[in-house]
Amino acid sequence: MHNDVILEVNELKTIFQTHSGRIAAVDNVSFKLQRNETLGIVGESGCGKSVTARSILKLVEFEGGSIESGRIDYWPTADEKIELALLDHRSKQMQNIRGAQISMIFQEPMASFNPVYSIGKQLAEIVIRHKRVSKREARDQVIELLSKVKIPNALHRFDDYPHEFSGGMRQRAMIVMAILCNPRILIADEPTTALDVTVEAQILDLIHSLKVENRMSTIIITHDMSVVGEMTDHVMVMYAGRVVEYADTEALFAKPLHPYTKALLQSIPMIGKGGELFSIEGSVPSLLHLPSGCYFAPRCPYASDRCKRTNPPEILIDGKHLVHCWLYAEDRA
Ligand SMILES: Nc1ncnc2c1ncn2[C@@H]1O[C@H](COP(=O)(O)OP(=O)(O)OP(=O)(O)O)[C@@H](O)[C@H]1O
Ligand SMILES: [Mg+2]
Repeated sequence: MHNDVILEVNELKTIFQTHSGRIAAVDNVSFKLQRNETLGIVGESGCGKSVTARSILKLVEFEGGSIESGRIDYWPTADEKIELALLDHRSKQMQNIRGAQISMIFQEPMASFNPVYSIGKQLAEIVIRHKRVSKREARDQVIELLSKVKIPNALHRFDDYPHEFSGGMRQRAMIVMAILCNPRILIADEPTTALDVTVEAQILDLIHSLKVENRMSTIIITHDMSVVGEMTDHVMVMYAGRVVEYADTEALFAKPLHPYTKALLQSIPMIGKGGELFSIEGSVPSLLHLPSGCYFAPRCPYASDRCKRTNPPEILIDGKHLVHCWLYAEDRA
């Protein structure tokens, strides 16, 4: 039944206890990642994209968060299931999965490297730890991968410290870190935010070709709809911790349903079309003071009283396109 699904997240709820109160950064999120496909998670800043990813890797528990309810099921092979939500974040099993089977390219490359050791040494240590090879072999593997991601003169730059790399080079080194152990799932969290447009295109191409070559299933997190359009097979749109729409990418671009998705699509800059970049009026609500009903209602041009009162259910359109919006309810007033 689940042969082609590698990861299934079901009604995940991740909470943080902050100074000002309890927040649900991820609230009832469900999605599936098929083997070898790319899923995009998209939404404005603060809507829970990174926390979703960090929940899968059980990193949130190190950051004061907890998975309050829901399931995260990972199938390394078609007939072996591991329930990640139930594993202790410090357990040996979780440590072996993290990095080696499911790995992540983090949003801030600087934070992933220790400033006092050379990049090469840090990468080689990961290889030694997970693959139990000699120092020499680890060094050779790292240099090979650094050249593959087009770090110029990788042999010499192996001994460089993180601050000696440019932003684009650090991003590439982090990609090497993420793929060193041939993970089955790669999660790329805004892998190109800090980079200029030409480098961005190169990094996205690189992730794509590594994905195909290493047969990785991939999750790409971004706030940029054009990245979603180019890179993904399915898309999940998040707003204030909840899923608002989930569909295959082609269907989503051909026929976006949720007013929030439509607004995101309108905010893609159109080269040559001139005109101003459309931005969505208003801002994402604070998770401490959420409106009742649909969280997008205060910014939504179509919001009715019902939208403001009651959270819309999940509605299935055309057999596979999911939307959480009262506009598509059968008993629409
Ligand atoms: N360790 C933490 N403690 C308290 N709150 C947190 C913590 N980590 C994240 N949050 C909160 O959870 C919410 C979701 O954050 P998240 O990082 O997932 O957003 P995001 O969608 O990745 O945004 P961005 O596009 O800016 O990266 C935010 O309100 C954030 O402030
Ligand atoms: Mg983020």
